[in-house]
Amino acid sequence: MTRHKQSGVLALQWTGHSLKVLDQRQLPEKISYDEYTDAYGVAEAITTMRVRGAPAIGIAAAYGVVLSVYQHYSQIDNNWRQHVLADIGTLANSRPTAVNLFWALNQMKAVLDGEGDNPRPAIFACAEKIHADDIAANYKMGELGADILANAKGIMTHCNTGALATGGYGTALGVIRSLYARNAVKIYAGETRPWLQGQRLTVWELAQDKIPVTLIADSAAAWLMRSGAIDWVVVGADRIALNGDVANKIGTYSLAVLAKQHNVKVMVVAPTSTIDGSINSGDQIEIEQRQQSELLPACYKDNTFVSAWNPVFDVTPAELISAIVTERGVVMNPGEIGVDRLLKT
Ligand code: MRU
Repeated sequence: MTRHKQSGVLALQWTGHSLKVLDQRQLPEKISYDEYTDAYGVAEAITTMRVRGAPAIGIAAAYGVVLSVYQHYSQIDNNWRQHVLADIGTLANSRPTAVNLFWALNQMKAVLDGEGDNPRPAIFACAEKIHADDIAANYKMGELGADILANAKGIMTHCNTGALATGGYGTALGVIRSLYARNAVKIYAGETRPWLQGQRLTVWELAQDKIPVTLIADSAAAWLMRSGAIDWVVVGADRIALNGDVANKIGTYSLAVLAKQHNVKVMVVAPTSTIDGSINSGDQIEIEQRQQSELLPACYKDNTFVSAWNPVFDVTPAELISAIVTERGVVMNPGEIGVDRLLKT
């Protein structure tokens, strides 16, 4: 396991006895951390999107299990295991779409099942490894993705896939960072309605690193592509099915359809922890529906004639994707061959 130092703002900080979570709802106006000492609090931080982004959700949940063990483990009370399993259940119910959450919880549970006497050191080591491995995977994907994008003049990204959404550095944004370090490519970020991850988080992260970025309204994407300014759309993923279908932030599917029309390519960047080896197609992915209030102006709150439909992810069929980049390698044209080989290496 190569250890990479984290740079920039941290979404998550383990203090030794608590987890500090950067409240991303308040960015970019305010940098404010909430401190959690139990799994219930961490689950709430995930549900309320103080922490968001598939890998970061998985890492937060892993530390949530550490907090649960620290809280409940006792040499004299054998019931502690039940309490920890209940907390794992609470964490698993925090959000449904990002598979990294369940992947991380399964790893933590396996350690718990294997430990006899004192589970505390092993359970912490597992969470720390999930965190460190994610950062290392991002640096690896950064290089692999930048190799493919070497001749790109312009790229567009969607949502936020940077340090804020991961253990550090980022997936799609990690590739963009690595590419920009090699040559000054033009970068466009879609605002990503309704939660504005692109406008509030991606633009902020890139500006912090002094990487120039141009914000566009989501609805300007077709016109941007039509102008010839971009060659690639580069995005992350919340869950990838074995056939290469990709669940990601709502709007990704629209971008992929538009990209096909305009001869723009689509790259998905995600660690293998985002591949769900138990599903064959994107049809099997649960798409989270969030509250109407995240979309509806407050004045319509009690208006029985007005409602909102607010799915926050969509599924892009594999045939619209040119490349899936993982830390274990790249699959070009996943629509032809799927991604199962990545889980076998
Ligand atoms: O609702 P969010 O902000 O958790 O959604 C995040 C995304 O869709 C990201 O693109 C995805 O999790 C990849 S983050 C590296």
